[in-house]
Amino acid sequence: MISAVDLWARVGGVDALRGVTLTVEKGSLVFLVGRNGAGKTTFIRTVAGLVRPLRGRVLLDGDDITGVPPHVRASLGISVVHEGGRIFPELTVEENLRTASDSYGDALDLFPELRAMLDKRASELSGGQRKMLSIAMAVSRRPRVLLLDEPFEGLAFSLVSRMYPVLVQLAANGVALLFAESNVALLRKLTDDADIYVIERGTVVFRGSLAEALKSKELMRMLGYIA
Ligand SMILES: Nc1ncnc2c1ncn2[C@@H]1O[C@H](COP(=O)(O)OP(=O)(O)OP(=O)(O)O)[C@@H](O)[C@H]1O
Ligand SMILES: [Mg+2]
Repeated sequence: MISAVDLWARVGGVDALRGVTLTVEKGSLVFLVGRNGAGKTTFIRTVAGLVRPLRGRVLLDGDDITGVPPHVRASLGISVVHEGGRIFPELTVEENLRTASDSYGDALDLFPELRAMLDKRASELSGGQRKMLSIAMAVSRRPRVLLLDEPFEGLAFSLVSRMYPVLVQLAANGVALLFAESNVALLRKLTDDADIYVIERGTVVFRGSLAEALKSKELMRMLGYIA
């Protein structure tokens, strides 16, 4: 379980998080929904230890990890798929996977398409394949908590629809999964219903089901889903 309690953070002089409280239980998949600039990336980076909060706490299974450095959080089981995906283009697919974990076999079982590309230089992969690799790298660490920052941005839906069930399965297997997304239309294509938090200007303005949120014109306008 990962929790943020009254998290405040400032980046580049902007109060990007203003008192965010959020919990993702073990075995659940929660969406953090917010339009561009709402604070999703800052939230993920703060939970990962890359941004130091001004105030508030981050808890991993109830233990306060607010002062714990990022590499230690990673070793405690917090894995991140950063916005845009992060890989080493000059390394092969296999070498990339090894930088994440030596036991990357499970990740290949989940993303069998990568198996045929192990010797390929990552710079030769398509955008979709790179994203798949960056997710596989995060998954290969066998995380307890997986934070995904708009992991499907820019991908063809045919690819998204193959990758999303893998994430659902990870959650079903006990991972606490937080998925940041700005695109409500994509969300609706992925799931009939889901637990969501809506973030706006660094504050959680809604917590509940996607179905419920969709009924609110005000929220949908805020998210740019309706005019
Ligand atoms: N390095 C920075 N310097 C200045 N302002 C920043 C910086 N990083 C983020 N911000 C500001 O903080 C706020 C939150 O940004 P953040 O990147 O967390 O939003 P986001 O929800 O991830 O947006 P997007 O959907 O565009 O990825 C925005 O107002 C943004 O302009
Ligand atoms: Mg972002």
